[in-house]
Amino acid sequence: MGGKTYKGLMIRETAENQFARAIEELSTDQLPAGDVLVKVLFSSLNYKDMLSAGGNRGVTKKYPHTPGIDAAGIVEESGSPDFKAGDEVIVTSYDLGMNTSGGLGQYIRVPSAWVVRKPASLSFRESMIFGTAGFTAALSILRLVEFGMDPADEILVTGASGGVGSIAVSILSHAGYSVTALNSLQDESAFLKKIGARQVIEPADLVDTSGRPMLKERWTKCVDTLGGDVLSSAVRSIRGYGAITCCGNVISPELKLTVFPFILRGVTLYGIDSQNCPMPRRQKTWDMIASQWKFPWLATLSSEIPLGGVTGVMDEIKAGRHRGRTVVNLWE
Ligand SMILES: NC(=O)c1ccc[n+]([C@@H]2O[C@H](COP(=O)([O-])OP(=O)(O)OC[C@H]3O[C@@H](n4cnc5c(N)ncnc54)[C@H](OP(=O)(O)O)[C@@H]3O)[C@@H](O)[C@H]2O)c1
Repeated sequence: MGGKTYKGLMIRETAENQFARAIEELSTDQLPAGDVLVKVLFSSLNYKDMLSAGGNRGVTKKYPHTPGIDAAGIVEESGSPDFKAGDEVIVTSYDLGMNTSGGLGQYIRVPSAWVVRKPASLSFRESMIFGTAGFTAALSILRLVEFGMDPADEILVTGASGGVGSIAVSILSHAGYSVTALNSLQDESAFLKKIGARQVIEPADLVDTSGRPMLKERWTKCVDTLGGDVLSSAVRSIRGYGAITCCGNVISPELKLTVFPFILRGVTLYGIDSQNCPMPRRQKTWDMIASQWKFPWLATLSSEIPLGGVTGVMDEIKAGRHRGRTVVNLWE
């Protein structure tokens, strides 16, 4: 005993499949085993956090639970030779916030294998503006860079006004590429142009449900976040020897395709998984985020709330009304 008391969002099952959310006084004694105790300064809000807070057993099996798949803060205690008290770190994904008490509490205790050194040129707050969404955008772009980029590339980004998409548009446009942003169902074209999209197209300009195995070649590369008919149409619209990344299923996990874009156009389709991304690749991606991929309008993509504001924003996420990135200041 003798742990520190701290504040955290706690989700409790009050009756079968009924869940209540409250900010509670907690103790680090109750945190799970792990060799690094981190004082969390900032977190951010993601769709998965809303699911966890709502009692979704696909995300979180056991309650009571503190959600928060993203955390940035300072190592308070370490049993690992890799970290010492005072180190500035980022922890995202793995099991954080799913079945391990997450970043919507002022402390987390995690295995050192999950901990990334925060690059000095990225503030705690900035790292959480990126968060898992921005990290996923950066992982998608890293795949395309490894595939081979050309200054003349024309790149389609889908779900472009969302968390992953807006950061992908921002990184790619800041790097000088010609980006076409797929508009969402509501018109977000003014925002998409502001973050550097050269063109904005409507879903109806892309989506083809005719079953044709290939469509007119339009883009050399694509970062897709939506899946379903959007991904199917994008794969069929990629130019010969182009590449496309797939990270999400906002529209659908189904993917109706023939093999023809792959065997007649040499198109490459990459899967993106941020959750179990190996540590060397994870650290490399954060280092890229903190250097070449840090764009000047980063702060304008986010709003900041205290821990007490989390449940209101989660309701907005659930209703599909949430825009941009929300960072949570745990000590405000
Ligand atoms: N693979 C990984 O490691 C990983 C990591 C993070 C996220 N993800 C996944 O990536 C996806 C995107 O995440 P996110 O955080 O960016 O989500 P988000 O912030 O909710 O963004 C989704 C975007 O898609 C738009 N959209 C929804 N339905 C659409 C439609 N029918 N046509 C065109 N646009 C549409 C939304 O606009 P409106 O709301 O205005 O319609 C919004 O701009 C999710 O599936 C998420 O689970 C995967």
